[in-house]
Amino acid sequence: MPLAKNVSTYLFETKSIKSLKDLIRQRKKNEQDYVVFLIDHYFSDNDLFKDYIDVNDLVLYIDTTDEPTTDQVDELTKTIRTTNIELPVSLVGIGGGSTLDITKAVSNLLTNHGNAEDYQGWDLVKVQGIYKIGIPTISGTGAEASRTCVMMNERKNLKLGMNSEFTIYDHLILDPELTKSVPRDQYFYTGMDTYIHCVESLEGNHRHALADAFSREALNLCREVFLGDEDMMSDVNRQKLMAASYLGGSALANSFVGIVHPFSAGLSMTFHTHHCIANCLVMNQMGEFYSKWVPEFKEMLKKQKISLPSNVCKGKDEATFQKLYDSTIIHEKPLGNALGSKFREILTFEKVKEVFSKI
Ligand SMILES: [Fe+2]
Repeated sequence: MPLAKNVSTYLFETKSIKSLKDLIRQRKKNEQDYVVFLIDHYFSDNDLFKDYIDVNDLVLYIDTTDEPTTDQVDELTKTIRTTNIELPVSLVGIGGGSTLDITKAVSNLLTNHGNAEDYQGWDLVKVQGIYKIGIPTISGTGAEASRTCVMMNERKNLKLGMNSEFTIYDHLILDPELTKSVPRDQYFYTGMDTYIHCVESLEGNHRHALADAFSREALNLCREVFLGDEDMMSDVNRQKLMAASYLGGSALANSFVGIVHPFSAGLSMTFHTHHCIANCLVMNQMGEFYSKWVPEFKEMLKKQKISLPSNVCKGKDEATFQKLYDSTIIHEKPLGNALGSKFREILTFEKVKEVFSKI
């Protein structure tokens, strides 16, 4: 079991974004000190965060069209290094799971050197990264709480993060007001990421009472949000989903994911499908493995009138299924957590192909 560590400090409050000014002021001790803002490009035409940015700060808008890649993290780190000879006093990541993960990876890389791919795995990061503040603008990935930062490595056909205690945020600003403008389908898919994290954690072999407690409460909150009578995006429900996301990420910091995430990684590596929608596509076909949960997942889809894309893998050639299989089966830890050390005997090429064929 990995050593668990929680986010050091956080502020959970509507309009808590306003606390960012003081927080940054505390970090800047000298005139030349500066902060790097990594902001989802979704906000590039938006003035929402301009009051917090000083003239000597660096703002990098993160292209989140595709899932984060190791090359993207290397490039951003290089940009920061070449823009200023001094390291920043803090990074501020503002956005969804991709932006929050990229911020964590860049923070580690700025002090550990080398390339992002050198640290894909468990406990390979050796030195504390740059102080980092996370500000989620969508709820569900748990990236704000988790000890990893998932990146795609095209050369190795591998989707894996820097799983390390150093990856965890130093401070979070959890402001439910910031998730108000999220498109409804995106809000649902991302919320389901938390639901799936908790299902995988509860159905795994690496369990303990604390991880279970995080998972159970996150699932309860998901049910209230997605199966309750109130609008899933009401002020109260956006608060609840933000809490669920944090708890789901904390559950994962104490356990592992299971079968859905490896299959989802296969879709991302092969078709560049986004993480949260890929999870939903896989969960929809997981009746054989997660029979207790799939009906509830489908009920949530129905209640929120969300339809998933179909025929994603239909008619694909054998080479594509081989790539899907390879990029799924490589995830030994989560698959072992779900199915035991002999997971390859259950997830044969034919079985994996059968699941993907239905997606
Ligand atoms: Fe996830």
